Amino acid sequence: MKNHFYVTTPIYYVNDVPHIGHAYTSLAADVIARFKRMDGFQVKFLTGTDEHGQKIARAADRQKMPLQAFCDKVSQNFSNLSKVFNLSNDDFIRTTEPRHIASAQAMWQRLEESGNIYKGTYSGWYSTRDEAFVSDDEVENGLAPSGAPVEWMKETSYFFKLSAWQDKLLEFYEDNPNFIAPKSRRNEIISFVKSELRDLSISRCSISWGIPVPGDSKCVMYVWIDALANYLSALGYPKIDEEFSAFWSQSLHLVGKDIIRFHAVYWPAFLMAAGLDPPKRIFAHGWWTNDGQKISKSLGNVIDPCDLVNRYGLDQVRYFLMRNMPFGEDGNFSDALIRGRINHDLANDLGNTVQRVLTLVSKFCPDGAAYNASNLTTDDKALVHAGYKYIDEIRHMMDELSFEQALRVIWGFICDINKYIDTQAPWVLAKTDTKRLETVLAALTESVFLTALYIRPFMPDTADKICNALNVNSDLRLYNSIGVIKSFSGPFFKPEALFPRVQDVTS
Ligand code: MSP
Repeated sequence: MKNHFYVTTPIYYVNDVPHIGHAYTSLAADVIARFKRMDGFQVKFLTGTDEHGQKIARAADRQKMPLQAFCDKVSQNFSNLSKVFNLSNDDFIRTTEPRHIASAQAMWQRLEESGNIYKGTYSGWYSTRDEAFVSDDEVENGLAPSGAPVEWMKETSYFFKLSAWQDKLLEFYEDNPNFIAPKSRRNEIISFVKSELRDLSISRCSISWGIPVPGDSKCVMYVWIDALANYLSALGYPKIDEEFSAFWSQSLHLVGKDIIRFHAVYWPAFLMAAGLDPPKRIFAHGWWTNDGQKISKSLGNVIDPCDLVNRYGLDQVRYFLMRNMPFGEDGNFSDALIRGRINHDLANDLGNTVQRVLTLVSKFCPDGAAYNASNLTTDDKALVHAGYKYIDEIRHMMDELSFEQALRVIWGFICDINKYIDTQAPWVLAKTDTKRLETVLAALTESVFLTALYIRPFMPDTADKICNALNVNSDLRLYNSIGVIKSFSGPFFKPEALFPRVQDVTS
């Protein structure tokens, strides 16, 4: 049986159109999913929309639309994002779907059966924007720590006995040091859990837009318990079969830093209480700023990811987002930064190198390129064999979600290819040593193919253009082709530029 891999994004609230933060998590999930597929894994990549709760109900109300119709409309914007960003998600879950409702209710029942739910009264602060209960000491000047306004709430509520899970959670973090990443977030979560863990209100009896509480149709589930259950519903829960277990045991949740507490505290507690294992790993990424400023609707500086793609091109945006902000840290967006990356890294480094090699082969060996391994010189081996070995480094970085570092490694290889062209000077060999020319061109072709394989999770269209130019079948564009495909058959044609340079609008 193949190795399984399950990667998820947060499911996005349908109160608004997608912004750069949504595109970023989904893209990161796509890159890791594509990498794992190319590395022989059976992958399930899940994304979707979070459609219940007060925030959505109010948004629909503002638009004067029936709730379900409003959700259908806004959810569509998120499924379109998959097309615009070339996301390879295997599923798109919506929390208003029957399969999810049944699954979330089944989880609630397990929690109830295991004695983890009781009825009481909740009185305290609630932030609708965050859909979160906020404790007294967290409220400052009438605002939640996120800056969102809070409202006082008092109602009958079902509670989850979170306090009973404090020791189990701490033990779990201790036994699974990689469960929460990066390390800084892990420390933040451990100190939060070590401080007092209060029982959690998990229902709303004053609103109706939600999943009915099993056995009490006057109340709906708290939107976060509903939302978190999506990760299970997409695997077919409550049916637990071999496939469920294979994927669940290899699950990775990618989330933004603001929602780590829900994923790293509440979620594993719910799961353990329902008799399930926590996910394998939760990785919290940082936030983008726009020209150094926090992105917010009130500042009017929200970045529309589809607009970015229209302006700069898809693979250009994919590359920039993965390259300019180390996953886990915060990063800044500006037009100057993305233009710099496009002109320097993509047009100059990657584009020119590929262009140089394809021009050479189309000129000097248009019918194909192959070398005899025994003819390889030390220089050739230094290039090609190093090219094979990069997969180990890149694999390790991808497992750590160090996308930006993996790209640096790939760019190091591109730089080596360029230097090799200069030192071997194939245009001179064409006049002096055609036998040697053959080997050099084949080593270059193979290196460009390896580059295409390495960039493929990040820039699938660009990689496929290169593979097409080298006539490599689509089913061979995988990591087990490394060091195996060494001969490339023509015809090779004079290439077109991969990345046009972009003008600085300020100049
Ligand atoms: N519905 C919940 C998630 C439920 S998951 C079981 C939710 N939805 S959301 O639509 O608000 O999604 C927000 C996601 O976008 C979060 O992961 C958040 O961190 C991310 N971002 C919001 N603004 C961001 C930036 N400026 N930069 C990067 N990511 C940001 O939360």
